[in-house]
Amino acid sequence: MKLTEAFKKRWSPRAFEDKPITPDQINAIFEAAQWAPSSMNGQPWRYFYAMKNDTAVFNQFVDCLVPANQLWAQNAGMLIISVAQKHFDYKNRPNTYAMHDTGAANAYIVLAATGQGLQAHQMGGFDKEKAAELLKLDPEKYEPATVIAIGYEGDARQLPDELMKREQAPRTRLDVEEIVKQVKE
Ligand SMILES: Cc1cc2nc3c(=O)[nH]c(=O)nc-3n(C[C@H](O)[C@H](O)[C@H](O)COP(=O)(O)O)c2cc1C
Repeated sequence: MKLTEAFKKRWSPRAFEDKPITPDQINAIFEAAQWAPSSMNGQPWRYFYAMKNDTAVFNQFVDCLVPANQLWAQNAGMLIISVAQKHFDYKNRPNTYAMHDTGAANAYIVLAATGQGLQAHQMGGFDKEKAAELLKLDPEKYEPATVIAIGYEGDARQLPDELMKREQAPRTRLDVEEIVKQVKE
């Protein structure tokens, strides 16, 4: 099992190399999402993606992002819009775990990207209404969750100064003791 390697290597870069992602890599990434766990096995995640060389549609995806994200995400090889289906197929009941489970599938996606020698950077900074309009989504049924930029990690020096500083800043995490408490009698 090489999973731990992907956990350690995964991060969210802003610099991407201009190198195409292959169809096999794309399949591996989406197959990972397919196998994520979900409440009632509802599988509420839906994905829409655009490749950088499909310039017109890729630019429409980029347009949905806030300017700070556009700056770097426009260099990714592909952009994915992840969407949560708000109701179960079963009796159309509301799925209160739809966003949770879409997030779980997205975690599979980013780890699979790392496993494929790529990196993924998720973004909440985008215009959900604009994305829903672009994808012709019924807002009663679907809610955009995140946009995910995927590509080969690039050279941070290609970024504007401010972004380069953030790219090179040390990654920080809360201590395990702070996020975990064993509950005992
Ligand atoms: C739901 C979600 C929304 C995020 N939104 C943005 C964003 O809009 N712009 C951005 O640059 N990074 C965004 N990030 C990336 C986080 O900033 C990043 O995951 C976090 O700083 C930890 O860094 P790491 O992924 O490199 O470990 C987002 C991540 C998640 C999971």
